Amino acid sequence: MAFSIPKLFLLLISSFFIASTWSLNTSSTTSLDAHLSTIRTFCSSRPFPDACFSSLKISISINISPNIINLLLQTLQTALSEAGKLTNLFSKAGGSNIIERQRGTIQDCLELHRITVSSLQRSVSGVRAGDSRKLVDARAYLSAALTNKNTCLEGLDSASGPLKPAVMNGLASTYQHVSNSLSMLPKPKRGKQGQINRRLMGFPRWMSRKDRRILQSIDGEDDPGEELIVAADGTGNFSTITDAINFAPNNSYDRIIIRVREGVYAENVEIPSDKTNIVLIGDGADLTFITGNRNVADGWTTFRSATLAVSGDGFLALDITIDNTAGPEKHQAVALRVNADLVAFYRCSVNGYQDTLYAHSFPTILSRV
Ligand SMILES: *[C@@H]1O[C@H](CO)[C@@H](O)[C@H](O)[C@H]1NC(C)=O
Ligand SMILES: *[C@@H]1O[C@H](CO)[C@@H](O)[C@H](O)[C@H]1NC(C)=O
Ligand SMILES: *[C@@H]1O[C@H](CO)[C@@H](O)[C@H](O)[C@H]1NC(C)=O
Repeated sequence: MAFSIPKLFLLLISSFFIASTWSLNTSSTTSLDAHLSTIRTFCSSRPFPDACFSSLKISISINISPNIINLLLQTLQTALSEAGKLTNLFSKAGGSNIIERQRGTIQDCLELHRITVSSLQRSVSGVRAGDSRKLVDARAYLSAALTNKNTCLEGLDSASGPLKPAVMNGLASTYQHVSNSLSMLPKPKRGKQGQINRRLMGFPRWMSRKDRRILQSIDGEDDPGEELIVAADGTGNFSTITDAINFAPNNSYDRIIIRVREGVYAENVEIPSDKTNIVLIGDGADLTFITGNRNVADGWTTFRSATLAVSGDGFLALDITIDNTAGPEKHQAVALRVNADLVAFYRCSVNGYQDTLYAHSFPTILSRV
């Protein structure tokens, strides 16, 4: 039993070799030319063969043995280094270097791009760890990254300005390596185990017993001194949810519990990617409301219109209503947007007119009202 995972992994890797048209020649006497031609053949079946070849030929000259894991890691590293340059470009693109037609375009791109960088880093460590589950996760991360690129491109479409061509080129060159990496991962087997059904009613499998208990909200069972209280009437630690989120520690491994007392919170709440494991607990979906009215007709991007936008992994919400009150004449107006992993909503109500829920790049939402 203890060997089942490594075996599965070997199986996966070997079928992976057969599936690719690439045959490995590990003979130590192989010449540099033969190595290069092996790489060229390997790259010819990638979505961007030239980008693949230019990032991988380096591995030949420094004589790393070219197995598929090394080639994948090298491609991911190239994607990460291109992504670093793109981050700088997005930072420069604010100001007057890009003229946005829709409010928040560059901010969306930067935020999405940060998520991509963290997806790439997680893929690298998953591939290094090398068990089959982590390879499946890496597929999900890289697919999500490609969705991020598309959302950014949609916003940039109507933008203009001197830096736009450089940003478009940077996006293209970074994400070619992401596509190539994705094509080097084993294809998921359909209909078999390993397909993750996270849309189960009830609690998802990844949720710990402690989390289930939190969601069943046994008030006061945890030490109330460790909770942050938000109260619109000023009787808590904060009077807005945003202030509590800002106060919460960055990159927490522990659940950070924020109780949101009864009231109407008219704010656009963002859970950024570095605020992990936040738990928002309201007094009831009929008592605690977060409301916003951003919408596309008023010039916001669909992405940025969300009343509650979740990019932090491990977010949980309980007993809260999330509304976008923009109304039917305002086109896309998102109440809840999620692009984070391991996110759940329990006894929450989400209301809007169009695109109420925008599950952006991870298929991991559980909603039970
Ligand atoms: C492997 O490389 C050696 C030396 O270059 C060559 O003689 C042999 O034919 C190659 N084998 C395959 C399967 O390409
Ligand atoms: C929040 O308020 C409670 C009750 O007044 C207090 O005990 C707790 O220390 C406060 N927490 C913070 C982080 O200020
Ligand atoms: C979280 O990180 C940001 C910068 O990324 C920093 O400005 C902020 O003060 C940090 N917040 C906390 C609570 O450490």
